[in-house]
Amino acid sequence: MLSEKMENALNEQINAELWSAYLYLSMAMQFENSGMSGVANWFKIQFKEEQAHAEIFMNYINQRGGRVILKPIAAVDAEWASPLDAFKATLAHERKVTAMINNLYAIAESEHDYATRDRMAWFVNEQVEEEETAQQLIDKFTLIGNDGMGLYMLNQELAARTYTAPSILAAE
Ligand SMILES: [Fe+2]
Repeated sequence: MLSEKMENALNEQINAELWSAYLYLSMAMQFENSGMSGVANWFKIQFKEEQAHAEIFMNYINQRGGRVILKPIAAVDAEWASPLDAFKATLAHERKVTAMINNLYAIAESEHDYATRDRMAWFVNEQVEEEETAQQLIDKFTLIGNDGMGLYMLNQELAARTYTAPSILAAE
């Protein structure tokens, strides 16, 4: 059984994951509108990934006999000056998410709730990838600057991203 503190913290995380999904969907819509459909595709897949993260938390709470409570999702920004700006905002946001996941891990550990701690370990690793990917894209857009051909090619590269369900969800 989950402690009340753990259950509340996991429910907060569901809200944070869904907020992340909404943030990336907002970015996708802006770049769709400004003709960068590859960048939009990348963020649409990010939107799906965040929904999957929320689903993993929901499944886990249910598995442990807890109750999922969905809370209102706060508004997100609608404008970023450039893809570089959006990826900088992505990295800043993912760093906050990492801190939240680390906090969940710490709560689980302090309560000797090793099942939750192990589930959080998956997210700890996932966050390493999220931050690395955002940083790599910041590097690429920084390198290209305002070069039209470079932007065209990078947009094409991001158009190729496809969605794969996280291993944990696929296994459930
Ligand atoms: Fe996430």
